[in-house]
Amino acid sequence: MIKSIDQLELAGKRVFIRVDFNVPLDKKTGAVKDDARIRGALPTIQYALAKKAKVILASHLGRPDGQVVPAMSLEGAGARLSELLGSDVLHADDCVGDGVKKLAADLREGQVLLLENLRFHAEEEANDDGFSKELAALCDIYVDDAFGTVHRAHASTVGMVKQLADKSQKAAGFLVAKELKHLGPLLKNPARPYVAVLGGAKVSDKIKVIDQLLGKVDTLLVGGAMAYTFLAARGVKVGASRVEKDKLELATRILENAGKKGVEVLLPKDHVVAAEPKGGIATEIEAGTISDGKMGLDIGPKAIVEFSRKVLAAKTVFWNGPMGMFEVAEYSTGTKAVAQALVEATQAGAQTIVGGGDSAAAIAEFGLADKVSHVSTGGGASLEFLEGRELPGVAVLEQ
Ligand code: 3PG
Repeated sequence: MIKSIDQLELAGKRVFIRVDFNVPLDKKTGAVKDDARIRGALPTIQYALAKKAKVILASHLGRPDGQVVPAMSLEGAGARLSELLGSDVLHADDCVGDGVKKLAADLREGQVLLLENLRFHAEEEANDDGFSKELAALCDIYVDDAFGTVHRAHASTVGMVKQLADKSQKAAGFLVAKELKHLGPLLKNPARPYVAVLGGAKVSDKIKVIDQLLGKVDTLLVGGAMAYTFLAARGVKVGASRVEKDKLELATRILENAGKKGVEVLLPKDHVVAAEPKGGIATEIEAGTISDGKMGLDIGPKAIVEFSRKVLAAKTVFWNGPMGMFEVAEYSTGTKAVAQALVEATQAGAQTIVGGGDSAAAIAEFGLADKVSHVSTGGGASLEFLEGRELPGVAVLEQ
């Protein structure tokens, strides 16, 4: 059994909330570019404040590998949080040590203290015992609301939870609970037809999730650069498109496996092609094979119609990975069309889930994020969940 934050008595207690404020920052100003993960944690933070807790927030940002990297400070995230809360957020310049101990001890009810990037210490990712004890000593209660990081067995997600003075004082925050509520049905009894739309660069990144999905979905739609590896595996000429040559056998095995399981796999029948992967140059639509020297950079109009039809006929849709190089306007149409199809499927009553990472960034950019059932704040975490793997940050919350 995992407790929810609202099953614990928070008043006057020091509540450590592990959040995932690993957000993109503007390189020049350090300001937060996409605050979806900060907004995702707000219900839990606001609940704790309303219950008069002394709130300590901790997160990682980027991969500083145990070094203090000023460009990866959580200061910008703290400033954005303060705007969203409409109140001050105290910022510690470290996450452990005497200064932090004093700040935590002096916290008053209804105050928020944001610790500095946990990964400025190598002990965080090493799940070091001493570091875990120091973090645990800061608080009375541990809450995990960092869904994006529950697949990592680090000090702040696993180690410190085992070091709590009272081991019953641990719970999931509302974001973790919401993510599990939406992602859970994708593994157990999804409403049918269940359609998965996969895109992105590499087959190798998605192999485990594809294997898992083949046991669950009715139809798999594949776009993005990975579609070219599958097309090449089927013997289709793909010109200069990006193909993972060492993954052709794997792609063939996946396609055969899909056939055995009765899963329909649709690859794009046409493409937006250009000579180079950049904007501002001539593009063409090519159907079937792709000419020598040209590369596919987005799915074409026929593929858009076919993919959209499948999505619209579905009762459950999972989407992970863009259909093309959506950051460049000329190649964003396919990704936008899939996002739009998910919105229409949602309006028609389907459960539509967007896995984190690039597809979450894309749907946010198109202004459609609040028009689908759920956009996960976890990239790797949502994929590992769908692979059917145990998430260490969730398992450790079991009472
Ligand atoms: C993410 O962005 O997926 C999470 O914050 C985890 O980050 P990581 O992949 O660097 O552990």
